[in-house]
Amino acid sequence: MIAHTPQHVSVSSGGVDGPAKGLLRFLTCGSVDDGKSTLIGRLLYDTQLILEDQLAALERDSRKHGTTDGDIDFALLVDGLEAEREQGITIDVAYRFFTTPRRAFIVADAPGHEQYTRNMATGASNSDAAVILIDARKGVLTQTRRHSYICSLLGIRHIVVAVNKIDLAEFSGERFHHIVGDFLGFAQSLQFASITPIPVSARFGDNITRHSERMCWYDGPTLLEHLEGLEVDHGLEAKPLRFPVQWVNRPNLDFRGFAGTVTSGTVKPGDRVVVAASGKESSVARIVTADGDRSEARAGDAITLTLADELDVARGDLIARADSRPEVVDQFAAHVLWMAEDAMLPGRSYLMRIGTKYLPARITSLRHKVDVNTLEHIAARTLGLNEIGLCNVATAAPVAFDPYSENRATGAFILIDRFTNATAGAGMITFGLRRATNVHRQSVLVDKASRVQLNGHRPAILWFTGLSGSGKSTIANIVERELHAHGAHTYMLDGDNVRHGLNRDLGFTDADRVENIRRVGEVARLFVDAGTIVLCSFISPFRAERRMVRELVSGDEFIEIYLDTPLKECMRRDPKGLYARAKEGKIKNFTGLDSPYEVPENPEIVVDTSQGSAEEAARRIIAALKERQVIG
Ligand code: ADX
Repeated sequence: MIAHTPQHVSVSSGGVDGPAKGLLRFLTCGSVDDGKSTLIGRLLYDTQLILEDQLAALERDSRKHGTTDGDIDFALLVDGLEAEREQGITIDVAYRFFTTPRRAFIVADAPGHEQYTRNMATGASNSDAAVILIDARKGVLTQTRRHSYICSLLGIRHIVVAVNKIDLAEFSGERFHHIVGDFLGFAQSLQFASITPIPVSARFGDNITRHSERMCWYDGPTLLEHLEGLEVDHGLEAKPLRFPVQWVNRPNLDFRGFAGTVTSGTVKPGDRVVVAASGKESSVARIVTADGDRSEARAGDAITLTLADELDVARGDLIARADSRPEVVDQFAAHVLWMAEDAMLPGRSYLMRIGTKYLPARITSLRHKVDVNTLEHIAARTLGLNEIGLCNVATAAPVAFDPYSENRATGAFILIDRFTNATAGAGMITFGLRRATNVHRQSVLVDKASRVQLNGHRPAILWFTGLSGSGKSTIANIVERELHAHGAHTYMLDGDNVRHGLNRDLGFTDADRVENIRRVGEVARLFVDAGTIVLCSFISPFRAERRMVRELVSGDEFIEIYLDTPLKECMRRDPKGLYARAKEGKIKNFTGLDSPYEVPENPEIVVDTSQGSAEEAARRIIAALKERQVIG
C-alpha cells in the first residue's frame, strides 16, 4: 500500500540449503515494554545469523546501555539508532532479513505507540502475518486491540499471539490460557484466517527456536517452527489479472506496448482483456520482456503487453481480464488512515495515487471515525494524525478498483498533499458508491463560446483574498462599478452575503471554510460559463482552496487579487467591530488571530491598501485587467 524502501536491513550469511518455502513477510507488534525487540534479536541470534563483529559490538553495547545486568541485551541488536536507544523506544519501521534452511523471512518491526500508527500500518501493508506480543503479566491491553485492528484493516490474515515474559509468570499454563481466551474473545470480529497462541520467553529463548522444558503443558510448535511452516496464501496469482499501465512504449509506428508490473493474476497471449475505465476489449498479442517474448507472465513480473487491436490506453489505465473486471466508479467508501500533521479536511482536494494513476480526489464526508483502541465508531468531522475513519471519497475521473479485502494491490490508494508532496493519508477501499456512468452531462445548444461572443468580452473570476477588513468588498465594489461602466457583464459574490443564503449552514472552522470556498468556486465557475466577470470577495485563508478554484477554469480566467493589508491596520480599521469582539473572546477562530491566513504565493495582482485610497486601488486593478485583456 505505502511505498517505502527497507531500512536497516541486516542480511544473514547463514550457510543454508536454500529455502524450501516461499518468503514470509511478517510484522511484529507490541507496546514498548512487551519485549518486541528482544524477540526479534533472539530470533536472529538463535538462528545463528548474527555476524561475528555485530556480536562483539553487541557485547560492548550491552555493558554500556543494557538493561539486563551484563547478559546480552537482544533489544540492542534491533534498536539500531542511538537516539532510539537513549529514548528507549523504536521510532521507525525497520526491516530485517534472515533465513533458515526451510524459509527466508523479512521482519517489519514497527513501534507500538499510538502516535506511530502510521508506521505500523506501513509495516503491515505488505506483511503476510503478524506476531502480536503480549506481556504475560499484563495480559491483553488497549494496544493489543489496536494492533490487532490495524493488522486486520491492512489485510493481514495470520496472527501469532506470542505471550511473552512467561518466565515472569512462573511459566503458568493457566495464565497463558486466560490471556488467549481474552484475545480470542475480541479478535472474533476481525476475521483472521488463523490465530496461533504460543507461550514464549524471548529473553531466555523458551519456545522461540527451542521447545521449552519449563512448559510441559504446552505441546504446540515453537515460534520459528510455526513461522517456517505457515501456509500463507499470497493469493495474488490466483486472482484475476490486474495490470496497471506504467507507461506506453511507442518506439516506432509499428510497435505500441504497455509497460508495467502485473499486480495480480496471470496473463498469456490470446487472453481477452479490457481497459477497465473505457470498457474497450481486445486480446493480448505478445508479452515482451528484455529477455525476449514470453508465453506467460504472473503477479510480480515486469512486462510489456501488446494488444491485437489499437485501443486508447494511457499511463494509469488498468488492463484487466475481460470476464472478471474491476469496478469503475468516481465515488467510493474507504478506510483512511491519516498520516499528516495537518488534519484531514472534507472537501479539500488532494492528489490521489491509485495503482499507477494520479488524479485529484477529495474526501466528501467522514462517515465515522474509528476509536482504534475500542473499535467504537465515533461521529467526527475530521481526522487528525494517526486517526482512522471510514470516508466517502470522490475522484475527479472514474477509477478502476477492487475492494481492498479482495485485492490489496488494486484496493489501496494514497492521498498526497498538493503543496508539500507528502503522503497525507492511506486508504483501503471498502465499496463503490456510484457507478461513474450513472450521471450523464446534459448537452446544451447554446454554449459558453456563443455567450462570450454575444457579451463581447472574456469571462473571468476576479478573486479578492485578504484578511477581514483588508478592503476586499469595498475595492471589489468599485471595480465592479468600473467594469459595468465599460459595458462588461458582471456579478459579485461576497463572503458576508453568500453566508446569508447558499452557505448559511457554514461557520468558521477550517472544514467549514473549505466547504464555503468549494461551493463558491463551483458557483463562480458557472458564472464564467455564462460568460460573466464574477468578482469574488472572500477571506479564503487557505492556498489549497484558492488553487482548487483556479483549477476549475482555464489558465487565464482566474485572477487572484491579494489585498496585502497588515493585520495591525485591519484591526485599527475594524469596520464591523469584529476584531474587538474576537479579542474579548466573543468570536472564536477569527482569521489572523486564532485561525491562520496563508499568504498567496503567486497572485496575479497585489494591492497594498495601506498606500492610497480604495479608488486608487481599484484604478490599479482596472489597469491590470486591461493589460491582461480581460476588458478592452
Ligand atoms: S472564509 O474564511 O470562509 O473565506 P468569508 O470571506 O466567507 O470567510 O467570511 C468572512 C466574513 O465573515 C468576515 O468578513 C467577517 O465579517 C465575518 N466573520 C465572522 N466570524 C468570523 C471569523 N471567525 N473569522 C473570519 N471572519 C468572520
